[in-house]
Amino acid sequence: MKVPKELQSLIDDGVIDEVVRPLKSGKEAAVYVVRVGTEVRCAKVYKNMAQRSFQQRAQYQEGRQVRGSRAQRAMVKRTKFGRKEEESAWKNTEVEALYQLMAAGVRVPKPHSYIDGVLVMELLTDAEGRSAPGLGTVELAPQTAREFHAFLVKQIQWMLCAGLIHGDLSEYNILVTESGPVIIDLPQAVNAAGNNAARAMLVRDVGNVTATLARFAPELAATRYGEELWALFATGELTRECALTGEFIDDETPDVEGVLQVIEDAQTEHEHREYGREVADGRHAEPRGEPANSKSRPDLGLRGVPLKTTMTRGSQDTSR
Ligand SMILES: Nc1ncnc2c1ncn2[C@@H]1O[C@H](COP(=O)(O)OP(=O)(O)O)[C@@H](O)[C@H]1O
Ligand SMILES: [Mg+2]
Repeated sequence: MKVPKELQSLIDDGVIDEVVRPLKSGKEAAVYVVRVGTEVRCAKVYKNMAQRSFQQRAQYQEGRQVRGSRAQRAMVKRTKFGRKEEESAWKNTEVEALYQLMAAGVRVPKPHSYIDGVLVMELLTDAEGRSAPGLGTVELAPQTAREFHAFLVKQIQWMLCAGLIHGDLSEYNILVTESGPVIIDLPQAVNAAGNNAARAMLVRDVGNVTATLARFAPELAATRYGEELWALFATGELTRECALTGEFIDDETPDVEGVLQVIEDAQTEHEHREYGREVADGRHAEPRGEPANSKSRPDLGLRGVPLKTTMTRGSQDTSR
């Protein structure tokens, strides 16, 4: 096919030999199937380079791995190409995340190179060698869904142990390969320890995976792995080996008693005021033990609650 202009420099540099076909084009990136020597790979062209994170520069430079050969030599020599390469290399969160996760044993597409805003990586394939489908497009037996879920929660656990949260995990960013599900698309991966929204993102990520797989194994819907993972992470107890239960008890269980008490108090106050007004209006010859106009009581779902209880609770009513 005609070479897209973003890939021309990679062809010129011999980083890729041929652009085979477009794979997918979305808001953030266009992905192409490419050939490198005898291997088929894919090339992800970032559309919005503003995604590059400047804040994490220091972290990126530390322990960063760059593909070998020409780029490596150029970086060492500080040539023009080298400077450019160095710049773009530390700016790509996804490339960093891929290397970091690979090192942590998380199954992600293997990155091969990152040049001129293009990430060349392993093409994930299904059993027939076609590009792997998204998790949301496959039919699964309940037992397979359970296995996928356990595997993915473990992958998320390992990611978290490596300090990362995906941040945009869903059925669209998990591909089903011949050897099982693989997490992709990590440009927005966040540092778990340094982000205020980290817990919410983790819980959402896990929740999305769970919701997708619960279509085939409904009992998964009741699990709370995201919350459990975060609780362990936050207290420093999370390890790669940690066995999770999927159970989690919120510390803030709704205070039903407290809410009822507030409603009762408000009702009591209302009744007092109402009754006082009626007495003042001369609508009552003799003061009575309870308001005559019970219709004026707001319906708070407490009908049947003995009024005496509400009248005496928390107040010394000496008028009777
Ligand atoms: N390594 C890969 N192997 C196979 N297909 C891929 C690979 N990376 C991306 N794709 C395909 O390209 C699509 C878009 O890639 P993705 O990384 O999710 O970028 P974005 O969603 O930001 O456009 C994916 O949903 C998937 O279908
Ligand atoms: Mg995606």
